[in-house]
Amino acid sequence: MPVITCVEDLRVLAKQRVPRMFYEYTDSGSWTESTYRANEADFQGIKLRQRVAVNMDDRSTATTMVGEAVRMPVALAPTGLAGMQHADGEILAARAAKAFGIPFTLSTMSICSIEDVAQGTGHHPFWFQLYMMRDRDFMVRLMGRARDAGCPVLVLTLDLQVIGQRHKDIKNGLTAPPKPTLANLLNLMTKPRWCLGMAQTRRHGFGNLIGHAKGVSDMSSLGAWTREQFDPTLSWADIDWVRRQWPGKLILKGIQDVADARLALNSGADAMIVSNHGGRQLDGAESSIRALPAIVDAVGDRIEVHMDGGIRSGQDVLKAWALGARGTYIGRAFLYGLGAMGETGVRKALELIHNELDITMAFTGHTQIGQVDKGILIAP
Ligand code: GLV
Repeated sequence: MPVITCVEDLRVLAKQRVPRMFYEYTDSGSWTESTYRANEADFQGIKLRQRVAVNMDDRSTATTMVGEAVRMPVALAPTGLAGMQHADGEILAARAAKAFGIPFTLSTMSICSIEDVAQGTGHHPFWFQLYMMRDRDFMVRLMGRARDAGCPVLVLTLDLQVIGQRHKDIKNGLTAPPKPTLANLLNLMTKPRWCLGMAQTRRHGFGNLIGHAKGVSDMSSLGAWTREQFDPTLSWADIDWVRRQWPGKLILKGIQDVADARLALNSGADAMIVSNHGGRQLDGAESSIRALPAIVDAVGDRIEVHMDGGIRSGQDVLKAWALGARGTYIGRAFLYGLGAMGETGVRKALELIHNELDITMAFTGHTQIGQVDKGILIAP
């Protein structure tokens, strides 16, 4: 068993263990992947101020995200098909998040259903992510199911009315479950752990949708779902409609522009996520960490601003926090852990990130994350 010391080690192991189409679904962005790369690379350009001879005892990274206590300002991002990285993936990731003390966000496009995750976590509250769909009755039913499962927070994704082209998904013929083509069967033969796990679960398709939604030609294809079900007409009036339907907290995901941040502020949402969908939608968009400061300047004193995109370490979390993000989300960083080692791998990813966050905070001369601000950064 290799020694795992960073998220990159988990990525390497996941690449070995997860069927190619699902590994590449995760490790990809749209078109040239320039935004996908920039999300990570732009964190590297931010430099930290080292302080010494400061008492570093009794440190804490605990804070709150939309009023919920979190052990560090990190939540598991909603990611499609997590249950194809590892059998029962969403349940395992939710359990790891619960054990660690941070929120898990279930994607609409998950393999395990809302009810599966509720049951699999002993009804521990988790967050639910929703897309704007053409079928409003289906949305109402989904929100009702999330409410019945005890979800306190709805994350509404605003940047996927149409899907950005990801070349690898097309080349791989991505479906859940995979179709029994020769290329897939040959690849699956090299992934015995994954196959064994899948043989032991009944959860192989889009659990929130199959048996609940109508009007989709291919129930196994993410592309068909988005083209046929996602609503290209989404407007701020629709967001207002969701606000009125949903009694809990509402977070708007996919804000990259100050003008949209102002509209999000006026929408009555509880928080917004600065996000370019992990570089999977508009290739050529600015990295999230670069987009963050102007949005924090514009609205950060009146609404919680969160961010995602490119976080692979606790150092990245601290930098985002210093630039004003009151919460961050990890997608790939936990999916690599999930693909590598299931629930243990997600816990490992969280422990690694927490440790990096905690130690880096100490080096910058702080013991409480609440006291960390831009002062820890070297001005560019
Ligand atoms: C879905 O949200 C995706 O990015 O694939």
